[in-house]
Amino acid sequence: MNHSIRFRIAALVLLSLALTLLSVVAQDNGWTAYDDSMMAGGTVKTDARPEGPLPANCPVPAVKDHYVIGMSQANRAEPWREAMDSQILAASKAYPEFEVVFQDAAQDNAKQVTQVENLLTQGIDLLIISPNEAAPLNDVVKQAWESCIPVIVLDRNLVDPNYSMFIGADNVAIGEAAGEYAAKWCADNGRTDCKIAEIRGLEGAPPAKDRGDGFRQGLVAGGLSESNIIFSQNADWLREKAVPAAAAAFQAHPDLDVLYGHNDPMAEGAYIAAGDAGIDVSKVLFIGIDGLPTPDGGIMSVLDGRIGVTFVYPTGGKQAVDWAHLILTQHIVPPKWVVLPFDTISPDTAQEICNKFQCPKAQ
Ligand code: FRU
Repeated sequence: MNHSIRFRIAALVLLSLALTLLSVVAQDNGWTAYDDSMMAGGTVKTDARPEGPLPANCPVPAVKDHYVIGMSQANRAEPWREAMDSQILAASKAYPEFEVVFQDAAQDNAKQVTQVENLLTQGIDLLIISPNEAAPLNDVVKQAWESCIPVIVLDRNLVDPNYSMFIGADNVAIGEAAGEYAAKWCADNGRTDCKIAEIRGLEGAPPAKDRGDGFRQGLVAGGLSESNIIFSQNADWLREKAVPAAAAAFQAHPDLDVLYGHNDPMAEGAYIAAGDAGIDVSKVLFIGIDGLPTPDGGIMSVLDGRIGVTFVYPTGGKQAVDWAHLILTQHIVPPKWVVLPFDTISPDTAQEICNKFQCPKAQ
C-alpha cells in the first residue's frame, strides 16, 4: 500500500470516528424528541430546537419525587385568567409529585417581574407564565430560562423566544373569523354602509394587535374594508373600562351596526353601555372572544341573545401542565410553539358547544 492510500484510509477512519462522536452527542444530550401522541389536539407552529428546551449549556432537569412549578398570572381578577389557573390546578392533581405556586400580578408589569424574580429566588423547577405585556416581561423570562429553568409561556407571547415553549391559540385567525362574520352579518342584514366600533385589549399584549389585525383582514375577505371601522379605543381587556369607551362610541355613532370587543367582558360591557344609551341592542351585532362555559361566560351570553358571536379561546392550562410533566420527568423536547384550536360560538353552534364544554344550559 503506498503512502497516499494509507493516508486516505486513515483520513476516512478519522472522519467516520468524528461523525459517530458528533451524532452520539446530538442524540445523547439527554433529551428525547416529542411525538404526535403528545400533541393533544394542538398543532406545531415552530418546531423544537435541536439543543432541547433549555440553553445548550444547561443539564437536563434532575429527576425528583417533588417538583415546584411557579405559575405567574397576569391578572387573576379576569374570569378567563381565573379559568386558566383553575385548569392548571386541576391538571396538576394528575401528577402527585407536582406542587404549583400561583402568583397574581394584578395587571401590573413591574409586579409580575418581581414575582418571577421571587419565584426564582425561592427555587422552582419550571416556570409557567402568562405575561401581562410582552416587552416588560421579556428580560425576566430570559433570565429564568438562561438559569436553566424550563419556561412555558401561555397565551400572550414575548418579544424574544427565550423560553422552552409557547402555547396559545392563533389570535390573528380568531380576529379574521370575527371580521368575516361581521362582514357577512352586515350583508345578510342589509347594512350596506356597515358601521363598526372596536374596543381593543391592552396594547402591549400581542393578542390585542393580532385580534385587531386579523379582524381587518377578515373584513376585507368578507367584502368590506378597514374604513368600515369608524371608532376604535382601548379598554385594556376590562369590562369596567369598556363601558365608558362603548358609551362614547354609541354617543358619537348611534347607528352603529357592529361592536367588536377583543374579549367577552368588554363586549358585555359595551352591551350594557348601549342599553343605557337607549340603543336597540337587538339591532347591533356584539362580537366577543373567550367563550367561557361559566354562568356569566360567552357561551351563555350567545344562548341568551346578548353577544351575537364569540370564539372559544382555550387557556392552554392543562396542556402547559402536561408538557411540564413531559419536560421534567421524561426529558421530552417540546415544539417551540404549539397552536391550540378554537371554536366559533354563533346562535347556530352555541347549544352544541355548551354541551361540549358543559355550560349551565348543557343538554
Ligand atoms: C384576560 C384576557 C382574555 C383574553 C386574553 C388575551 O386577561 O383578556 O379575556 O382572551 O386575556 O390575552
